[in-house]
Amino acid sequence: MKTLIIQPVGPLRGTVHLPGDKSITHRAFILGALGEGETTVSGYCRGEDCLNTLRAIQALGIQVNEESAQVMITGKGLWGMTEPSEPLDCGNSGTGMRLLSGVLSGQDFFSIITGDASLRSRPMGRIVRPLRMMGATIAGRKAGEYAPLAITGGNLHGCDYESPVASAQVKSSVLFAGLLAEGTTRFTEPIQSRDHTERLLRYLGIPLQVEKPMVAINGRVSFEGRPLVVPGDLSAAAFFLVAASIVPESEVYLPNVGINPARAGILEILADMGADIEVQNRREASGEPVADLVARSSSLHGIHIGESRIPKTIDELPILCVAAAAAKGETQITGAQELRVKETDRIHAMAQELGKLHVSIQETPDGLRIKGGTTFHGAACHSLGDHRVAMSLAVAGLLADSPTMIDDPDCIETSFPDFEGKLLELLTNSP
Ligand code: S3P
Repeated sequence: MKTLIIQPVGPLRGTVHLPGDKSITHRAFILGALGEGETTVSGYCRGEDCLNTLRAIQALGIQVNEESAQVMITGKGLWGMTEPSEPLDCGNSGTGMRLLSGVLSGQDFFSIITGDASLRSRPMGRIVRPLRMMGATIAGRKAGEYAPLAITGGNLHGCDYESPVASAQVKSSVLFAGLLAEGTTRFTEPIQSRDHTERLLRYLGIPLQVEKPMVAINGRVSFEGRPLVVPGDLSAAAFFLVAASIVPESEVYLPNVGINPARAGILEILADMGADIEVQNRREASGEPVADLVARSSSLHGIHIGESRIPKTIDELPILCVAAAAAKGETQITGAQELRVKETDRIHAMAQELGKLHVSIQETPDGLRIKGGTTFHGAACHSLGDHRVAMSLAVAGLLADSPTMIDDPDCIETSFPDFEGKLLELLTNSP
């Protein structure tokens, strides 16, 4: 098994060109397939998660041409997909599986959707319930709680659904099904989750009614493909924002990063912790706010990260644990029980693995308590097959007093191809 070895060798300096935003890439590929005619998607994420979604739409009869920096998708309209002859494999991606299931529920054919062992252990009842309410017939393990899911779609009707969880994956699954359903579909969630789907739908000319945290869509509105530009991924940037903040004398420039406010909790939280992050050159790309970021070393202090901030920070909580461990004082994360059903149980994973580096970190039922400012000791740790755990441990290793070994780092490929190369480049730029 491969091991990633992190040598704590000093400041990070230079520029990182980030992979395209993973969330937006999934949506751009799917909407490209449902549009009429050509959609070119540039700046897309080449991580395995998104490539699996691209392969899935190809298996659904949609023509895809990959050129160097962009993908051209020839959409066949809302009803142009054809029955796949084999199960669709989403690999490790909850977003891929949940969003595609919404689309498959609206198609008049049979399909099976599955993924790797981690994905097959993640809750799917949260999408299966609303999709069944809309008229899809879905079978799956444990009465549809777990994949593989077998979907017989078609003839959907709109519904009024109140989701018990704030989840952009659930919302997007229901909105995609709603686009294919007769009548109006209304989705409400406890706290607004990221709104990339809503922004892209609007950008493509599909009207929505939004009264946050409610969104409604009228079904069966066809639309034409158009060029889509995907900004850099703020969730990928987060590892370098924290690394530059905690490793003394660092300065890292991150051009072209998506800063959607429903997603940018990391920027607010790091600012509250005392980080020095400059947001420059604000602009828009395909309906999404974008900026260039500069992160410089600073002295962080602990804070409380409560429930209202969790949805907009959900994927950055593992790396925020590292920031908290390097900060003065205590940080408490509460209301974050959703972290337990990600690629791995991230509450348990971060407590266990950062604990190996002698970080004072305690797991609670819905979060973590971290006493910062202690010395990290290099250790042998494990990614637990989770890309964000692996990259968070790599950043923690930069502050340790000896090398840190991370077993099973290949999972990083799901979202951030060449993370290691980019990190090494910043370290070798050091004076
Ligand atoms: C995502 C939404 C979030 C996030 C995931 C990507 C999306 O999941 O954790 O990595 O693209 O919609 P939930 O919506 O289930 O919280």
